[in-house]
Amino acid sequence: MKNAAHLRVILAAGAAAVACSVLFHAVTSAAPPQPRPLSSYDPDVKKLLAQMTLDEKIGQMTQPDYSAIGDQSDIENYFLGSVLSGGDTDPRAGNTLQAWTDHYDSVQAHTQKTRLRIPILYGVDAVHGHNNVLGAVVFPHDIGLGCTRNPALVEKVERITAEEVRATGIQWAFGPCVTVPQDIRWGRTYEGFSEDPALVKELAGPAVRGFQGAGLRDPLAVLACAKHFAGDGGTAFGSSQGGRGLDQGDTKVDEATLRKVHLQGYISAIQAGVGSIMPSYSSWNGVKASASRRLLTEILKGELGFQGFLISDYNAIDQITRDYKEAIGISINAGMDMGMVAGNARHREYIADLKALVGEGKVPMARIDDAVTRILRVKFAMGLMDNNRSQLADRALQKSFGSPEHRAVARDAVRQSLVLLKNDKKALPLSKKAARIHVAGKNADDLGNQCGGWTITWQGRSGNVTPGGTTILAAIKNTVGNDTQVTFSKDGTGAAGATVGVVAIGETPYAEGRGDRADLALAKEDLDAVSNMKSAGIPVVTILISDRPMILGDALDKSDALVAAWLPGTEGQGVADVLFGDFKPTGKLSFSWPRAMAQLPLNMNSPNYDPLFKYGYGLSY
Ligand code: BGC
Ligand code: BGC
Repeated sequence: MKNAAHLRVILAAGAAAVACSVLFHAVTSAAPPQPRPLSSYDPDVKKLLAQMTLDEKIGQMTQPDYSAIGDQSDIENYFLGSVLSGGDTDPRAGNTLQAWTDHYDSVQAHTQKTRLRIPILYGVDAVHGHNNVLGAVVFPHDIGLGCTRNPALVEKVERITAEEVRATGIQWAFGPCVTVPQDIRWGRTYEGFSEDPALVKELAGPAVRGFQGAGLRDPLAVLACAKHFAGDGGTAFGSSQGGRGLDQGDTKVDEATLRKVHLQGYISAIQAGVGSIMPSYSSWNGVKASASRRLLTEILKGELGFQGFLISDYNAIDQITRDYKEAIGISINAGMDMGMVAGNARHREYIADLKALVGEGKVPMARIDDAVTRILRVKFAMGLMDNNRSQLADRALQKSFGSPEHRAVARDAVRQSLVLLKNDKKALPLSKKAARIHVAGKNADDLGNQCGGWTITWQGRSGNVTPGGTTILAAIKNTVGNDTQVTFSKDGTGAAGATVGVVAIGETPYAEGRGDRADLALAKEDLDAVSNMKSAGIPVVTILISDRPMILGDALDKSDALVAAWLPGTEGQGVADVLFGDFKPTGKLSFSWPRAMAQLPLNMNSPNYDPLFKYGYGLSY
């Protein structure tokens, strides 16, 4: 074994090599470097596996939510291989950078009390920045990144996300989401780059490379997790159990369609070396993805050659069948490698059941060994098993957490994600010398609304959710000269006499399930805000903050200019940069924009395709 100093030199050289290779790419767009195959770690894995008891193996296959672990000593007593913080799970000491880092270190310290001292992988939903942590930079959600059409930018965004995640010690992000939503009534549409499999395929690889950096061994690498495999975006409206609409529903398509539409992102994610993949809650032709041997073992691991491991979705195993033990057996035999098992002491039950299933010969030992091999490959690849490498957080990274440099990249992502849908009479760009700009709308001065779901909390919420961001109203004030007056009313009244009006309307935050909608018409308060501005007889610029295209109604006619800004995140300054012409709009729609609900589902390949704005539409100045 090399000494620590030597190792650091090697690591530093590795980091320099990455910097060069990233530059090289940008300039030559040469094929990205091939990641080291995970199976090349098998000689090391084999030696370790040979020493492991069944309890130790099953522990590796278990991931509780920290909030439900109860007694922290379960980490060593059950040899847990992983822990996650779900969307609402903060450290017990609170939501600060310090508390998150201390929390990670203390969880990791428990693994040092085990015989084999195998470190845990700590997982978190860093899906648009390190979005659970107060003060992190929050990037646009993936729907906006899809409109940038910019793979290098997507890679940069995930690189910075990874650095902020690593600043808290955490080494695993449940992203990128490579879903290909086919029906915008689905409340997770915003988590996907595009309705177009080709665009998802193009961006998935760069996203994985952004997270995983130079390679999993890079101390700044974060293990990526492509999700949700497969067909999460293809569920039919109203098809899911309990009438919950599209989320977690059934994707009824033949295998050729599944491959053509829903598997494309996984192909490029695997080529980029993605180390983990999350099977979907949804079903494919009535069979839960988490129970499908065809999907998990035959197609993903066999045909597509995925060498990493599968992490179940949050308690997704429970949905396979009523009997929990039976459900575990079905899922593990189908190819699931690690169970995300939340709920009061659920992990203890999962462990006992899986152990019993092995004892009864219902889950073969070979399947357990394969699952653990896959998990350990990733741990070896990430340097987690390296005695000379500290597994505690590198606190030196904290100085760039939420930094101006990181925010500058997010601001640039915002600029590039905006799509200009209408611009009559040159309403845009705005003049920085206008006498008065009247700003209105429920989303003009609300950081939470512009960040959306999966921000600080699982569902997200309105209001001042995190420190350090800029609302659109604040950004406009920052941008204009001293002689320009900026006035504000939420409902758009009081606009008379202004030079121009800017009204930010649209949706408010939600996540899984709660965002499924049968009607995507704008809310009355939004239509009224636009009307009130229009009746003041001034040019009206409308900014739509939303998780997906919406039915615009007469807001389109009443607006002289209309910008789709999606969910831009904390850096509202990027919106102002485009409004005032410091940056010309370049975004192109990554989803088709319907005229009316009756057209849904509407995609670029729909028969009689007649959208309001076509896939790929976007104006500039
Ligand atoms: C979601 C996943 C997420 C996981 C962990 C699930 O409910 O479907 O996207 O990664 O929870 O929070
Ligand atoms: C958790 C999320 C998870 C969801 C699943 C929530 O309580 O915070 O992370 O995705 O449950 O239903």
